[in-house]
This record gives sequence, C-alpha cells and structure tokens, in this order.
Amino acid sequence: MIESLRGFIKPGSEEEALIQKIDFSKLPKHVAVIMDGNGRWAKMRNLPRVEGHKAGLKAVKEIVETCPRMGIKYLTLYAFSKENWKRPQKEVKTLWGLLANYLKKESSVLVKNEFRLNVIGQMEQIPERTKKELVRVMDMTRNYDKFIINLALNYSGRSEIVDAVKKILDTDRIKGNDLNEELFSKYIYTSGIPDPDLLIRTSGELRISNFLLWQIAYSEIWVTPVYWPDFNRRNMIEAILEYQSRERRFGDIKAG
Ligand code: FPP
Repeated sequence: MIESLRGFIKPGSEEEALIQKIDFSKLPKHVAVIMDGNGRWAKMRNLPRVEGHKAGLKAVKEIVETCPRMGIKYLTLYAFSKENWKRPQKEVKTLWGLLANYLKKESSVLVKNEFRLNVIGQMEQIPERTKKELVRVMDMTRNYDKFIINLALNYSGRSEIVDAVKKILDTDRIKGNDLNEELFSKYIYTSGIPDPDLLIRTSGELRISNFLLWQIAYSEIWVTPVYWPDFNRRNMIEAILEYQSRERRFGDIKAG
C-alpha cells in the first residue's frame, strides 16, 4: 500500500484487496470524467432532479479526495456543457448555485492540500456569483501543482477547437504551413496538460457528448452503468484496474 493511502482505506476491506492489484508505476496521469446519470438517480428515488445533482456533488468530493492519494495528477470533470443551458431554468440555476456554494465551502480544502483549480470552457456566460467564486479560487490556487482539477464549465469540444483557430488567426497570425498538431495543442483550453489517459463515463451511455474532442484521440474509454451520484472510490479503483489491463498501442502493433 502506498503511504498516501494508509489510514484512508480500511485494512481488510474489499477496497484494500483491490488496491493491492494496482500497479502504481503505471497509473493514468490524467483521468477525465463525464459525470452522467444524476437525473435518473433522482428519478429512481422519486426525487426532484436537483437532488441528483446534490448527491452528485458528494461523489465529486469523494473522487477529488481519492485521485491525488492514488497518485493521479490531473482530473478533468465535465460539469456543465454549452448544451446544458437548454435544461429547465430552475435546474440550471440550481447547478450554478451548487457550484458557487461548493467553492465557498471547500476552497480552504483545496488550498490546504495545494490543489489547483482550473476552468476549461467559455467563462464569460457563467452567472456572476459563480464566476466570482471561480476566479477567486483559481487565483488562490494558481501556483499549486500537487493535483490539478479541471472543471469543464460552459464547455463544448467543438467550440474549444473553433476558439483555438480564432486565436491563431486573430491574434497570432500563424501561417497554415507553420501549423502542426503540437503547435495547435498550445491553443486549446488544456494547453500544457497531458491528454487524458483514461476517460470514464457513468450511467452506461455510449457517447462522447462533445467532450475533449481533440484530447481524447488515444484515451482509453471506460463506461460504467453506475449513476454518477453512486460513483465511489471503489469504482475509481476498478476503472484504474481496467485501464491497466488494456494494451495501449497508439496505432503501433505493439504497446507503446
Ligand atoms: C449529468 O447528469 C450531470 C450534469 C449535467 C451536471 C454535473 C453536476 C454535478 C455532478 C453536481 C454538481 C457539481 C459541480 C462541480 C457543479 P444528468 O442530469 O444529465 O443525468 P440524466 O442523464 O440522468 O438526466
């Protein structure tokens, strides 16, 4: 057991047995998650959808606590897509409110642990109160690098690519011939961050939903039927074990 997990995982538990199987020299550096199923989780319990989001926030906390202890460096969470504005206004308002409250309450935890918060997406349209909290926490944590959380907010993978092209054309005026994949990567929202090694989607849907279209070219994808509010530490360990069982060839005929 690695030191950071001692005292966190109960000795003799099922989780401990699973953790023993992890090869800590072959961890994914970057895990991205499409957190799906909050609404269905609530519906199954005859609760309003917003209760699903509240429970989803608890799962966010558990995963944010688990990933750095396991040695994962980057976590990207798809929290609000550009398409999510189509939802009932009340639900949209609640989601942004939940995030603002979460940041108010938990920012000290991020600071204490030296975690950095990043936003990927178009921040301009985010409601003022939430935007203010986001800017505050991003400013406070910008120099930390123990663990980096990217929150995808008002995010669209296609918009991200278009935004990169706009910046290249309008600001940096790079000639077509000088552009290549490496240079283009410097213009996307996740510039400087390695591409996700593992993409997790909860609730069983087999879709990418406009998430990290450029970055997931060679990510391993793991879909679980578990609804996001029920996703826990053990599921994260299972995802990592599954990831480690895959042979990543990156187009080659042997593992890279
Ligand atoms: C998907 O479930 C979830 C979302 C669109 C929002 C994600 C939000 C959270 C996990 C909680 C809040 C956390 C933050 C960081 C703001 P869905 O509503 O699409 O579920 P459904 O497909 O079952 O309807």
